[in-house]
Amino acid sequence: METDVQNWIEREGEVFLKDMGVRKGQLVLDFGCGVGHYTIPAAKVVGKEGKVYAVDKDREALDKLTEMAESKGLKNILIIKTSGDLKIDLKDRSIDVVLLYDVLHYMKAQERKEIYGEVYRILKNDGLLFVYPKHHKCDESLWNLADMKLEDVIKEIESANFYVKRKCLKTLIHDDNYDEGFILNFTKRGEYDTEPFPMKREPNENRWRRRFEAQGNRKTFPVSKQLKIWAQGLGRQKTFDLRATKISHVI
Ligand SMILES: C[S@@+](CC[C@H](N)C(=O)[O-])C[C@H]1O[C@@H](n2cnc3c(N)ncnc32)[C@H](O)[C@@H]1O
Repeated sequence: METDVQNWIEREGEVFLKDMGVRKGQLVLDFGCGVGHYTIPAAKVVGKEGKVYAVDKDREALDKLTEMAESKGLKNILIIKTSGDLKIDLKDRSIDVVLLYDVLHYMKAQERKEIYGEVYRILKNDGLLFVYPKHHKCDESLWNLADMKLEDVIKEIESANFYVKRKCLKTLIHDDNYDEGFILNFTKRGEYDTEPFPMKREPNENRWRRRFEAQGNRKTFPVSKQLKIWAQGLGRQKTFDLRATKISHVI
């Protein structure tokens, strides 16, 4: 009989990652990839035109990943063995998706801050950060997340210049078995977001967010008159990239 891991690797992992927003041709970083339960499905989704950078400090886990990748004929995985250093050897704004799955509990608060900073640096402006914060206070609490609620994790990541775009309960692989867990997807806060806009009244973000969500993610809309005026105040183009939780930045 097929095990949970086999079922995940052969089918469900791809379905899951596509639903999260991983697409063909993308560059993905799986930080703390372990034996590759997310790396392998990600490599299948991004295909030959894409690539998955699989980073871990555990040589044994990476050997297993290498073996599995070879057995599946996947040539688009670049395995990177580190010493546990949180500096990531990738260029600024070069990556589409970063996975921090079941790894945050290994890191102390200062280390998590460092990894969020690195993730922010390497993600493209419209890149996505996916987090599975297993082992927080309400999910088999352990180590550095033991005292943190899910909302605390969200706040912590948002304070590192991200917006939470999606939070949902999913069935996904954890170690060798299926589990139910909250997953979080974040977008980068745009560089203009942090600056106060030179208008007295900001547009109604919630209204725009609802409209944006109703029409699917990552669309660029022609802006309303109100937004146009707002944009002209900045002397920028007349379209906005509307992210799920807030208007992110002028593009
Ligand atoms: C529980 S496993 C999760 C593996 C995989 N992400 C998954 O969800 O199936 C956590 C992995 O993160 C790795 N890890 C923890 N801290 C790390 C660090 N600072 N640098 C690289 N890898 C790290 C561990 O070696 C381990 O393989």
